[in-house]
Amino acid sequence: MAEIKTERLDGYRRLVDIARDLASTLDLDILLSRIVHAAAEISGSEAASILLYDDTSRQLYFQVSTNMDESMRRGLIVPLDGSIAGWIVNNRKPVRITNAHDDPRFFSNIEETTGFSTESLLGIPLVTKNKIVGVLEALNKNKGKFSDADESMLLVLGAQAAVAIENARLFQQSDLISEFVHELRTPLASLSTATYLLLRPEMSQEQRDQIIHNIHSETMRLNALASSFLDLARLESGRVQFRKTVFSVADLIYECKDVMASKATDDNIQIRVESPEGLPLLEADRDKIKQVLLNLLSNAIKYNRPNGTVMLRAEALEDEMVLYIQDTGVGIPDESVPHLFEKFFRVREHEARVAGTGLGLSICKQIIHGHGGRVEVKSKIGVGTVFSVFLPRPSRTQPHIEEVDDVKQTRKKG
Ligand SMILES: Nc1ncnc2c1ncn2[C@@H]1O[C@H](COP(=O)(O)OP(=O)(O)O)[C@@H](O)[C@H]1O
Ligand SMILES: [Mg+2]
Repeated sequence: MAEIKTERLDGYRRLVDIARDLASTLDLDILLSRIVHAAAEISGSEAASILLYDDTSRQLYFQVSTNMDESMRRGLIVPLDGSIAGWIVNNRKPVRITNAHDDPRFFSNIEETTGFSTESLLGIPLVTKNKIVGVLEALNKNKGKFSDADESMLLVLGAQAAVAIENARLFQQSDLISEFVHELRTPLASLSTATYLLLRPEMSQEQRDQIIHNIHSETMRLNALASSFLDLARLESGRVQFRKTVFSVADLIYECKDVMASKATDDNIQIRVESPEGLPLLEADRDKIKQVLLNLLSNAIKYNRPNGTVMLRAEALEDEMVLYIQDTGVGIPDESVPHLFEKFFRVREHEARVAGTGLGLSICKQIIHGHGGRVEVKSKIGVGTVFSVFLPRPSRTQPHIEEVDDVKQTRKKG
């Protein structure tokens, strides 16, 4: 008896430490990872996960888990009707289950995607200011069953976690929105000047044509800014679902080359592909990787010199696939390199030369990191730049790859 009491007391002491820890960060990813680790620890369970609830789309997304490859689960949609987490959102009540598979609410599809088998489960709603932000679940109690004490500790943790998540989200939004509004000011100011000038009777037709041309390019830029911004906001909020498939990188490279062919011809740039023989297939979100390649390829064309070349190459290392996008362009000053992947950053010398939003590389980074990969840049002024994108490939020893082969075979058969 005395032993149990001390244990519980230790648990509550841990909760106080954790609360302090949670309050100290506004970075949503770090925060969520801390919460799931704390939840698994204090409830004595094998794993813990967080699902976030999006009010606007009324959707529930798998977000982080202590035991799982992040990019696999991130953004996975869980049905509100037909899952335990969905039931928790709808009823705002905790759930304690000894065997999830016996429960009609259990969303068993999730196990196919994650490869994790759930037995016992303790789930609680994350509620703040009467608003539900998500669900916290502890999975597979290490010893025995989840107890009343486990539930009340998880509820205390959940209450703190909900506040911290809400704060981090608000902070993220305010940050992003104020930067966006700031970026809108310049094009809006030039549009307003342009229309003012058009209204002046003394303007010649030639001047008017020039102004209309400017209005056209500024509105195009605003449009690009709006869609890129939306893409980035979605990626940053962690609500993007990566739909992984197995595909040929070589085919994708040729496809990107074709998309950019006319732009390259206009600029007198030659695109060369070093077609790699026997390149293995890649498992990733094909559309998103295409977006990365197109962004990098369009930069390599935009920031090239007349009659320059762009070289596209892919290479399979032991556990990584590397995509290289190399140009013979203007290059990037050393002091700018560390800032390249920041939102809205553009090299000062390039700003006047070519139109851009400064969001392309931030989007690339988010997608690549979302896949568990990384991106590197090497550049020399007047010589050119190489972007190298590293994407993880599951190693042959993991059971994972068999699943992938199975999928392929079923597809062939079907
Ligand atoms: N291949 C490249 N060569 C030289 N500079 C580049 C290259 N790619 C990107 N940059 C620099 O990085 C900045 C950010 O790139 P990006 O985020 O794609 O924005 P944008 O192309 O809209 O300006 C660019 O404005 C440019 O100054
Ligand atoms: Mg760009």
